[in-house]
Amino acid sequence: MKVLAVLSQKGGVGKTTLATSLAVAAEADGKQVALIDLDPQATATFWHDTRHRETPAVVSIQPIRLSAVLNAAREQGTDLAIIDGAAVQREIAYDAAAVSDFVLVPTKPAVFDIKSMTETIRAIQQHDKPLAIVLNMIAPTGVENTDAFDAAAVLGVEICPVTIGNRKSFFRAQGQGLAAQEFEPHGKAAEEIDRLYAYTCIHLYNRQSGQSVEQPAVDEVVTA
Ligand SMILES: Nc1ncnc2c1ncn2[C@@H]1O[C@H](COP(=O)(O)OP(=O)(O)OP(=O)(O)O)[C@@H](O)[C@H]1O
Ligand SMILES: [Mg+2]
Repeated sequence: MKVLAVLSQKGGVGKTTLATSLAVAAEADGKQVALIDLDPQATATFWHDTRHRETPAVVSIQPIRLSAVLNAAREQGTDLAIIDGAAVQREIAYDAAAVSDFVLVPTKPAVFDIKSMTETIRAIQQHDKPLAIVLNMIAPTGVENTDAFDAAAVLGVEICPVTIGNRKSFFRAQGQGLAAQEFEPHGKAAEEIDRLYAYTCIHLYNRQSGQSVEQPAVDEVVTA
């Protein structure tokens, strides 16, 4: 079993959106997936409650139970556990990173968000875990993305070549307990999640998943 964590102490950067979307993508790739919701607000769990589908399984737990729940998931034949972190709590990022094979740190490409992301990255780096920053909710112009690239260089962190645009289908899907790729299978959000999943597979399994991770030019990214 592999463990992917989606972590940031900054609130509202897309942890739950990306964790749920990747869980659905992994399931579509034939994997048995467990989504572990560490957020006391239980957003991923509420998403599952409105989903009208059993899978991917979502379990809401207190962080102290993380390793026991991962062990149980492993014994039950789970292929991929995805941890959805929580805002503010540094120890959640630290504990989740310790048990993860790969960590994604979503951030909005604005200076304020990049500053607050640094503390999360430092916590993950204490465990020497592979991680990458994912730019989420990027504007069509992409002008301010250079700040994120500069910050990543200073931190010595990989920046995911797949960026996620600010797209209505993400929040519209969530309202129905769906992932964006289920809500609008041929939309741009679906394409981005496909590529993000492919990129994640390269890090988790050291292989391609058949999807290209190439990012379109920034001016192709439009709010749809
Ligand atoms: N790429 C996107 N395009 C448009 N809306 C998005 C995108 N990503 C996330 N959102 C929206 O932004 C809001 C915050 O996203 P989300 O809940 O995933 O963030 P979070 O980091 O999990 O927040 P929290 O720290 O509160 O757990 C949600 O309403 C979500 O639908
Ligand atoms: Mg969340």
